[in-house]
Amino acid sequence: MPLRSRLVGVGTYLPERVVSNDDLARTVDTSDEWIRERTGIRQRHIAAPHETCAFMGAEASRAALAQAGIAASEVDLVVLGTSTPDQAFPATAVRVQAALGLKGGFAFDVSAACSGFIYALAAADAFIQTGKARTALVIGSEVYSRIVDWNDRTTCVLFGDGAGAVVLRASEEVGPEAPGILSTHLNSDGTAGDLLFVDGAVGRHDGTGFIRMNGREVFRHAVAKLSAAADEALAANGMSHEDVDWLVPHQANKRIIDAMGKKLGLAPERVVVTVDRHANTSAASIPLALAEAVRDGRIRRNDLVLLEALGGGLTWGSALVRM
Ligand code: COA
Repeated sequence: MPLRSRLVGVGTYLPERVVSNDDLARTVDTSDEWIRERTGIRQRHIAAPHETCAFMGAEASRAALAQAGIAASEVDLVVLGTSTPDQAFPATAVRVQAALGLKGGFAFDVSAACSGFIYALAAADAFIQTGKARTALVIGSEVYSRIVDWNDRTTCVLFGDGAGAVVLRASEEVGPEAPGILSTHLNSDGTAGDLLFVDGAVGRHDGTGFIRMNGREVFRHAVAKLSAAADEALAANGMSHEDVDWLVPHQANKRIIDAMGKKLGLAPERVVVTVDRHANTSAASIPLALAEAVRDGRIRRNDLVLLEALGGGLTWGSALVRM
């Protein structure tokens, strides 16, 4: 019998150092006003050298396991979404596994840029549904400060560092009202790969390796594709916009987030927003936002939560979760 993945814990880690828009305006030709008006971003956290992708992922995981009341030794799967791994290999997920003292189970990274958490969640969900794992850590951890060109004002103001994690547990309760992941939908279109990419490969030491983006085009794709993704998720579950209690979108730009909230007919207070304080933390943004709203009591048991993201690839997708 298929099993359902129940979301039983959330955790986060944010680097200590906070960099404001005014701080950035001292080094590039930008202003707090421009950044806030175009993106909604006020500040971002930037990792210190010891705050690596694995370090932050492990800290977020410990917090998620503590919240779930589950011992690390019970974890038999670690899936980590990142496009800023500490090393090409081993996967950051196995570094996290080691940091948690785990020797069993299996761990791997997922590379889907800003959709990394949705892809990681979908992968873990599939392993749980088919009985191949029972307790999974799903992590988004990113150190975009390493791949941002700090001289390029069109991108460097947009990103931040951080990590978020959730614990999934197999559950035999699978009825329509039973808690857990109701569906995931993943999409990609490689023909749009040059709209948002990193201009270098691992092992090339030629001054490449920075984010490049056609912001306007990405914006256009984001609104259209995320709207379609929301409809796809709801239709697959025989639900409508009114059924959604919370939208927890990828946090790239407040204007995209607002457009999605409007499209779903959700009151602004039903849309979880962290982009103002975290900026775009890529694969980490959804678990960071979800954890914040769970911890402060906004998202409660049985609430229906729609997660959605679009990122480089292009990749995009959704997850519909009954908490
Ligand atoms: N500070 C001041 N001015 C800036 C600037 C900055 N940080 N970055 C760009 N500008 C300037 C541009 O040079 C341009 O000037 P010009 O008209 O003299 O050429 C002007 O601002 C407008 O630039 P444009 O790129 O058209 O702005 P925009 O309204 O499209 O906003 C983004 C830019 C990046 C904020 C917006 O396109 C966006 O959010 N796109 C989606 C990005 C995204 O979500 N990426 C991640 C997906 S996971």
